[in-house]
Amino acid sequence: MIKDSIGNTPLRRDEYLSMRYNTTILVKEEFHNPGKSSKDRAAWFMMEDAIQNKKIAPGGTFVEASSGNMGISMALIAKKLGYKTKIFVSASCSDEKIELLKSYGASIQRCDNSNGLHVFNSTQYLAQNFSANNLNTYFTNQYYNSNNIKAHYKTTGPEIWKQTKGQVTHVLAGVGTGGSISGIGRYLKEQNPQVKIFGVEPKDSVYSLYMQDTPMPDQAVKFDSIEGIGRTFIPGAFDKTAVDEIYQIDKDATVVMSKRYREISGQLLGFSSAAVLAALDKHIEHMGLTESDHVVLFFPDHGDRYMHKLYQDLEPIKEISKDYNASI
Ligand SMILES: Cc1ncc(COP(=O)(O)O)c(C=O)c1O
Repeated sequence: MIKDSIGNTPLRRDEYLSMRYNTTILVKEEFHNPGKSSKDRAAWFMMEDAIQNKKIAPGGTFVEASSGNMGISMALIAKKLGYKTKIFVSASCSDEKIELLKSYGASIQRCDNSNGLHVFNSTQYLAQNFSANNLNTYFTNQYYNSNNIKAHYKTTGPEIWKQTKGQVTHVLAGVGTGGSISGIGRYLKEQNPQVKIFGVEPKDSVYSLYMQDTPMPDQAVKFDSIEGIGRTFIPGAFDKTAVDEIYQIDKDATVVMSKRYREISGQLLGFSSAAVLAALDKHIEHMGLTESDHVVLFFPDHGDRYMHKLYQDLEPIKEISKDYNASI
């Protein structure tokens, strides 16, 4: 059963980062999921709900708006279960993700923007429109589907709690739909209200404004694309009460961090994972960490999905730091 192979991903203690920041740094490696990203979890919960509650008939088509990873997870699960997928992808989607979508047999439509259901020609608008006009299709709508948060509340949060034996003190995670951070935050804060949950978004994305109760801008904002994270609107899958603060990070600082980490560790960070690490580095003083803290960095996918964007034409890695305990 594909369900049984989703989740229970490793939580790796990163010796190098723990030494550098003088605290315990743990990395939740979501690229160990069968579809190689955290999105398998929400994809499964949304699709299982649709099938069990007869929102889609056997052999029907799942429809979704995606920056790539959710589409890949759904296409993989749909293949296993005998369904089809139609994925409306953001303009920013990497070539590697497009190739994966094709290889799982998804029908793909690239779109101008992903600015929400009410914006003409957005991924969400076109997905909803397609589903409304085609029989036996179901739009999972990850931006507003409560099963998105539920997947992380029921699986990722409990895994982190168990894997840290309840010692987790901080979590940093990128925010796209908000499903991952909201589910993780909700669960962990129920176990220990002192756990701090920090979101990460690209500079000029709107979650920070929302957290500070600042009115949303009238015009859609423009922000540098870090695939998977940042928004021009606040989706229903984001639960403000589960999050303490949102940190903003520059795309340039993220790209520099991905290359620095590669040199040190020999590992290729996914784009949003590099943003999480860059945000930790930038805000480490503000976080006020102590030696006894346990900080979890949520890494949704792997750098092999961003070879062209982050790792092309680099010198071969010279030497991996002897302090580095690579698990892969
Ligand atoms: C690479 C990557 N990082 C982070 C996220 C954000 O996760 P969420 O949508 O649960 O906020 C996504 C979502 O697509 C993603 O693909």
